[in-house]
Amino acid sequence: MNENTIKNFSTQLIQSVENKEFVKCTLGKITSNEKDLQNIYIKAVELKNNLMLSFTFRYERRDEVKNFNLTEANDFMLQKLGNEILSADLYTIRKNYFLKFNKKRIAQLIEQKATFSQITNLQHNNIKKRYISTENNIYLHRLEVIGNNGQIIKNKEDKFKQINKFVEIIDSLIKEISFENEIKIIDMGSGKGYLTFAVYDYLKNNLGLNVKVKGIETQEKLVKICNSIAKDCKFDNLSFEQSNISNFHETDIDILISLHACDTATDDTLYQGIKSNARLIISSPCCHKQIRQQMNSSKKLMQINKFGILLERQAEIVTDAIRAHLLELQAYKTNIFEFISAEYTGKNLLIVATKTTTEIKEAEIKLKIEELKNLFGIEYHYLEKLLEENANDQTWRNLNPVCHVH
Ligand SMILES: C[S@@+](CC[C@H](N)C(=O)[O-])C[C@H]1O[C@@H](n2cnc3c(N)ncnc32)[C@H](O)[C@@H]1O
Repeated sequence: MNENTIKNFSTQLIQSVENKEFVKCTLGKITSNEKDLQNIYIKAVELKNNLMLSFTFRYERRDEVKNFNLTEANDFMLQKLGNEILSADLYTIRKNYFLKFNKKRIAQLIEQKATFSQITNLQHNNIKKRYISTENNIYLHRLEVIGNNGQIIKNKEDKFKQINKFVEIIDSLIKEISFENEIKIIDMGSGKGYLTFAVYDYLKNNLGLNVKVKGIETQEKLVKICNSIAKDCKFDNLSFEQSNISNFHETDIDILISLHACDTATDDTLYQGIKSNARLIISSPCCHKQIRQQMNSSKKLMQINKFGILLERQAEIVTDAIRAHLLELQAYKTNIFEFISAEYTGKNLLIVATKTTTEIKEAEIKLKIEELKNLFGIEYHYLEKLLEENANDQTWRNLNPVCHVH
């Protein structure tokens, strides 16, 4: 009986798309193992002249979009409804359909008068919101990301995609935090400042937020150029400072960002964020040498690690996994995901850590870290060492009153 009800719902969904009557569909009450999956929003799209359904999987701190053709969408519904998904609301211009499951998981399909009288225009594949406008954009021109005609210069397209995506992620995360005063943002290892300028411009000029943004960079020449461009753009609250990340001493950072800070510079970055009790840390790591050197000697994994590329990949995974655990140990809810397709950069992982007030299961997390280190033959992780060496530094630990549960 359940089977027929679910089939009926799925048929209504597919037919409404085929008949151009579909408005939207939301799947909720998710009981799958994916703990932070909150709901799934479905809209109709036209991709290369094919009608498809675009599923947005809404996780606690990110969205993941998957496009399904109608057969795949139907299969998804038949497989998941009643098992991992216990509520589905379908809106068409003919009727609304609400599929519910009671405690015994018996399905009920409720049909109601349509709420909507018009379908939404089908979104096409090529319509994509850009967070950074190239129009009359002085800094992009001076940084040689766009040419005189305003077009993105060929070898800068990947970088432009990366910073756009980074800004999009900051945009969604910043909206979840309420800041009372000026928001102080530091970009560690800012290089030529592509990301730093874009973040400032978007938050200040598009969102109208009261932000102060600073790029930290060792190379004096880059710092000088970036400061001069910031001045020409009249970006008054944007500046660049020549400093090594590890020597940076400000402790009132609200948001800390970094894009491809090399090797342990990412650890220095995360450490500065933790030390500052930053509300948000967003960092895309780069070249994981520190752990790799130690893993090489790990006998247990010799059969894998004798292949250079597998050793490299494993070093990345282990380094970032330990980083995530160390952040959790400091009361940061941490997530790691691919922020952009690998076609734009191989270094496409993003660590996103949000400060929480939840209790820390300190002993449990420490055990996980030890187990990981033992498994991979790691003597020390650079971030762990930084945290341990400075554990008694009360100037920052006092900033950070969190509850420890053993
Ligand atoms: C790969 S580049 C990335 C630059 C920029 N974030 C971007 O994505 O375009 C890394 C930058 O970090 C800087 N850097 C590396 N280690 C650093 C450190 N310890 N302190 C400050 N800057 C550092 C380098 O000079 C370089 O400009």
